[in-house]
Amino acid sequence: MAFENIKEFDQLHRAENIIWMGQNTNHLPAHPKVKESLLRSIHDQSFNLYAPPYGLEELRELVLNDLRGNNSRKEAQVLITDGAIAGLYLVCKRFANSQTSVVTSDPTWVWPLKFSLHEGASIRCIPVYDKWSGFKLKAEVLDAEFSKCENSILYLVDPLNPLGSCYERNELKEIAEVAKTHDVLIVHDCTYRDFAFEHHLVRDFYPQKTITTYSFSKWLGIAGLRTGAIIADDPIFSYLLEDQANTLGSNILGQKAAIAAFKIKDEWISHINKIQRGNQNLIQTCVEALSVLNTLIFPSNGNFLAIACLEQKISANAVARAFMKRGIFIRTSDYHSDVFRDDFLKISTTVPEAWVIKLCNELPSIVDECLSEK
Ligand SMILES: Cc1ncc(COP(=O)(O)O)c(C=O)c1O
Repeated sequence: MAFENIKEFDQLHRAENIIWMGQNTNHLPAHPKVKESLLRSIHDQSFNLYAPPYGLEELRELVLNDLRGNNSRKEAQVLITDGAIAGLYLVCKRFANSQTSVVTSDPTWVWPLKFSLHEGASIRCIPVYDKWSGFKLKAEVLDAEFSKCENSILYLVDPLNPLGSCYERNELKEIAEVAKTHDVLIVHDCTYRDFAFEHHLVRDFYPQKTITTYSFSKWLGIAGLRTGAIIADDPIFSYLLEDQANTLGSNILGQKAAIAAFKIKDEWISHINKIQRGNQNLIQTCVEALSVLNTLIFPSNGNFLAIACLEQKISANAVARAFMKRGIFIRTSDYHSDVFRDDFLKISTTVPEAWVIKLCNELPSIVDECLSEK
């Protein structure tokens, strides 16, 4: 159910009343200040202009300040990109090659792996789908892995889409130390950091070789406006810029919405986390009543829950197909792994409570239907 099929995805866009709970997008009503800023940008036709190549200066500074909230270092530079994914593409294009090995967790967010493969890199996915690892990469395991290749890149998704695990400060410190020993570049994908109960930055321990990614799609809910960033120190930052694709700047409406959002960010984040954690509770209560499903990490550090289909008694893809027939789009593990293809469901929680209630009302009968199919 990866919806790589472009026609299927377009059909989904054209269908009315689809409940989008498959992409971790944010469907809660936007903050009035953000809407106001977007409307202003439309009225004054800001979109006639190209944005500055590195992004609006005010936004670059705000992104850096946002990361400094963790008492993080003041150095580093910000490049505003067409969503975090464009920054990740640039990183893979510049750093992955036939001599490099990209190390990541299995499951993971796969697109940077695909970008790296195109550059000739090899990919090594380390299984983290077990309680023993806490659903996370361990420093000692990475140490052994980095010893196998002289040029490794670590793609660290934290909080981890799809499982919802999040690294503690000491865990990141240990990973940074191991990476330093092996001179490994770390790409710290922090797309979901605002949904975490506590989040830390690898760049505080290993600034010289960490690239941090930043997304406005999920916390702000502007996935369709394609606005994100990458953050790095020199010389990495300058090296990335040499091949930057968006020299004509990124979406100006998205950047203005992001500037407006930073002014109300604290209030907004506590508001959306209250709703999405409430939604997590509703789903969890429903899942607990069903013996064949089990939430892997609860509460999740992302705006989504990963729900395992126990002992292969039930097929995750069959459940997702049954939901789709009822107009509810959720994801399955095959989007995130070639190994765990039918093992778990992933359900987004930054959605109106009414959507969650509909999902919870349908889940028991869908489970019965899928059990009888097996
Ligand atoms: C881990 C991860 N990184 C990056 C992205 C893409 O972010 P953006 O929408 O800012 O391009 C996603 C989107 O789902 C994601 O899950």
